[in-house]
Amino acid sequence: MLTLTLMSPAATRRFARVLAGVLEPPCLVTVEGELGTGKTTLVRELLRARGVRGPVTSPSFTLAQSYVGSDGVVLHHLDLYRLGSGADVDLFAWEDYVADDALTFVEWPQAGRRALPRADVRLMLRHRSLRSRDAEVRAAEPLEKRIATAARSQSLAVERSEVGGPA
Ligand SMILES: Nc1ncnc2c1ncn2[C@@H]1O[C@H](COP(=O)(O)OP(=O)(O)O)[C@@H](O)[C@H]1O
Ligand SMILES: [Mg+2]
Repeated sequence: MLTLTLMSPAATRRFARVLAGVLEPPCLVTVEGELGTGKTTLVRELLRARGVRGPVTSPSFTLAQSYVGSDGVVLHHLDLYRLGSGADVDLFAWEDYVADDALTFVEWPQAGRRALPRADVRLMLRHRSLRSRDAEVRAAEPLEKRIATAARSQSLAVERSEVGGPA
């Protein structure tokens, strides 16, 4: 597990750019945390860094938005906050959003727990103060190490511990 302190929205966006440079398809990333912890801020900047132009809106009403990055990689942004349970979950076209050539980001992943494959990266954001957030990153060890190295090269403070193990 990696822990980072994101001292400002700018630091969250810097971390998003770090992730954008490290993650390769296929990759499923879950982004957890209370309302306002910066989940959408992070995913939006990551999509921008992958070359998505035009508006990147929060998919909280549409459940999912799909984009194509500058290198042709497909990018899916899901927000399952409003997805109910039972039939809603069964009818949702999960297979459309997880593919070999795609990067998939899921805010509020709980509703998709049973339908989605295991996440490759699990992000958890927590309120620290008005302008700062704590981030936890769980991934397989080689990927955690790549993320940590890239984050440190961008002057982000990163701690690495074995707690939690691979995602
Ligand atoms: N360090 C920080 N990282 C991310 N957002 C922050 C931070 N500090 C303050 N904020 C503010 O918190 C809000 C986060 O909103 P948003 O990204 O939509 O959160 P979520 O998707 O988790 O509900 C934004 O208004 C943003 O400016
Ligand atoms: Mg959001």
